Amino acid sequence: MISSVPAKTTPAENVVRRVRLDILIVTRHEVCSGLSPPHEAVPARAGATEASAATLRARANIRIFIAASFNDAGPASSPPGVRMCRFACDSGFVPTNAQALFKGIAPRYDRSAEALSFGRYAAWRRTLVGSMPIEPGALVLDVATGTGLIARALERRHRCRVIGIDLTEAMLQAGPRRPVSAADARALPFADGTFDGLTFSYLLRYVEDPAATLRELARVVRPGGAVGSVEFGVPQNPVVRAGWRLYARGLFPLAARAFGHGWGQVGSFLPGSIEAWARAWPVDRQVDAWRAAGLDDVRVIRRTLGTGIVMMGHRHG
Ligand SMILES: C[S@@+](CC[C@H](N)C(=O)[O-])C[C@H]1O[C@@H](n2cnc3c(N)ncnc32)[C@H](O)[C@@H]1O
Repeated sequence: MISSVPAKTTPAENVVRRVRLDILIVTRHEVCSGLSPPHEAVPARAGATEASAATLRARANIRIFIAASFNDAGPASSPPGVRMCRFACDSGFVPTNAQALFKGIAPRYDRSAEALSFGRYAAWRRTLVGSMPIEPGALVLDVATGTGLIARALERRHRCRVIGIDLTEAMLQAGPRRPVSAADARALPFADGTFDGLTFSYLLRYVEDPAATLRELARVVRPGGAVGSVEFGVPQNPVVRAGWRLYARGLFPLAARAFGHGWGQVGSFLPGSIEAWARAWPVDRQVDAWRAAGLDDVRVIRRTLGTGIVMMGHRHG
């Protein structure tokens, strides 16, 4: 009846106890430990996950909470009367149904993101692109390229050749760059050491195992090649952090709604996702993960009171 149970108590188990599930199936136990509730549990949303949850609820008449990851297929079906939940996403920062969400905001993404960030998005992008040591003609991979904002800026600034890849086809199609390729950062379709440089942005909050994804990104960069990233951060100063929280939790969700339904959803998940990310992966831990992935000389540039984190490094060797 029970196909899989975790070997030891984890914070995720506490969550499941609270929502009265009998069985917890942890598919990625190593990622699960060390995370703090209640951020592991996210109510199921639309699509395959919801369908699975509805089936289970009808069969077993129980409360089911599912933390579905970006590509999680949802819970496996369970025998009648069995309270079961496949608890696949336990990071706390990976939002439910993110791919559908990006599809919804892809049209007019660039302008909306710029307006909602008061121009910070462009400023951080300039910092990243300007700090990348890239020679003219070099081959660069821009991962999670979205509409290609960073790819275009790299081409303009360094006169390099850029390949942009993203998991969400709609984001690629919404940008002007062609041709575009859909690919997953967690399993890149490139040989080891293919690129002279690599950038990624706002990516690691969308994967369940950021350390493994970093290793995969580093793999495709040649020894000595530059790697750079940008991601949201939470201010370190307690007073500034309180102000940021007020904006992020209060004003931002309201403002985002004015940009349409899709952005309203972004307003609901993004502040929580950023905070959970900062808790689970403080900058020092990120630096360690970069080093463990084979990246040297790791540098951190904090922007806008620490709300933007630009990181740089070089492939070892
Ligand atoms: C906030 S958007 C940022 C887009 C772009 N980098 C920018 O700065 O405008 C995050 C992007 O990450 C992409 N993404 C999330 N998980 C991914 C994965 N596993 N592989 C590739 N792209 C991914 C999403 O599809 C989305 O386009």
